[in-house]
Amino acid sequence: MRLTMAWAELDPSGRPSATPPVLSALDGSGTVQSAAAWQDQRPAIRQALEETVYGTMPPGGEARLVERRVVDDAYLDGLAVLEDWDIAVTAIHHGQASAPALLRMAVMIPAGQMDAPVILMETFCRNHNTFPDAGLSRPEGEGMCDGDGVVSGIMGYVFGRYITTPPLEEIARRGYAIAAFHPGDIVPDDAARAQAALDEIAAGLPDDGARPGAIAAWGWLFSRAVDVLEADDRFSGSDIISWGHSRYGKAALVGTAWDERIDGVIAHQSGTGGAALNKAKRGESVGEITRSYPHWFAGNYAAYAGREDALPVDQHHLLALIAPRPVFLGNARRDVWSDPSGTFIAAQGADPVWELLGRQGLDQETLASFDPQADISFFIRPGTHGITEEDWPAFLDFLDAHFR
Ligand code: GCU
Repeated sequence: MRLTMAWAELDPSGRPSATPPVLSALDGSGTVQSAAAWQDQRPAIRQALEETVYGTMPPGGEARLVERRVVDDAYLDGLAVLEDWDIAVTAIHHGQASAPALLRMAVMIPAGQMDAPVILMETFCRNHNTFPDAGLSRPEGEGMCDGDGVVSGIMGYVFGRYITTPPLEEIARRGYAIAAFHPGDIVPDDAARAQAALDEIAAGLPDDGARPGAIAAWGWLFSRAVDVLEADDRFSGSDIISWGHSRYGKAALVGTAWDERIDGVIAHQSGTGGAALNKAKRGESVGEITRSYPHWFAGNYAAYAGREDALPVDQHHLLALIAPRPVFLGNARRDVWSDPSGTFIAAQGADPVWELLGRQGLDQETLASFDPQADISFFIRPGTHGITEEDWPAFLDFLDAHFR
């Protein structure tokens, strides 16, 4: 794929850029020139992203481990231990906790390892799909891939071999733990059913077009998972890397941008509302995404459909909030809907913050020159939307480069 535009060409008319450089202070007071000034800038960027795109992040929250069951202490022929964790998640508003909701997290730990880096995954399917035939409990209620194996077979056919189950043995062999959960346990991915859960999480916030959508809530769930992982001695020295595909890639970026306890992120094909710019856009537009998935975003985001230039921030700001931590951005050539070139331009746009913080951010000139060592690692493969043979080796090379 040819990169159609570069960051510097976004506004060829020479007008002041509608896509402000990441180091331009949002209040117009000039250019951010030091790490300290960048720290001062971050709250304003977060606030603008909350007000215009995601909604206010849930005001507070905590998670408590209710029960931990060892499902198999010699999982994968002894390569790992598999556990099933029941976690009570509460949102906290004005010091008041909401009623606890149950999140089920499956945790795979490479045998005999303390402090293994943890791949913290939000999955489309439920945990018994992520770890098939392991004897995990099968909760009631539908997820995209519940039912019999046929459904996950179709998912795999359409979205690639690894959409339901990652290459577990390879991951365990390379020394990574997995903590996986389906965020639909707490906020279902369905406009009608999501509302009650979102109202619970957002209680106490004004009804002003900036109430959190599901992506903010799913992002917040990454933090709740970190709460319980950090409380477990076996992970007290672990790096935690958030991982998500597509809609959950959007959530992984948001969760990581908002929570500095997360050490890095793998966001695969996150697209619109994820790593791809809203302005100068190919693929899915703001109008399309907010019509199809009204529950994902703040109400305000829909009002920018067709007038994206009026947004005070763009998605390079979201990426920049993650600096100086490592970011992997996965793409596929024919997945134009997720806008790989808009993602590359956003990475270019965020890059100056890594440099300001003394790191090498994006270290590639073209979309194809993937460098897993770089702190912003842009990856593109042939094919379409999904998780295929090529993707996990790239994720693991990136993880090895930064977390082993
Ligand atoms: C749809 C949606 C995308 C999203 C994707 C996914 O295609 O339009 O924004 O990323 O689903 O989650 O797979």
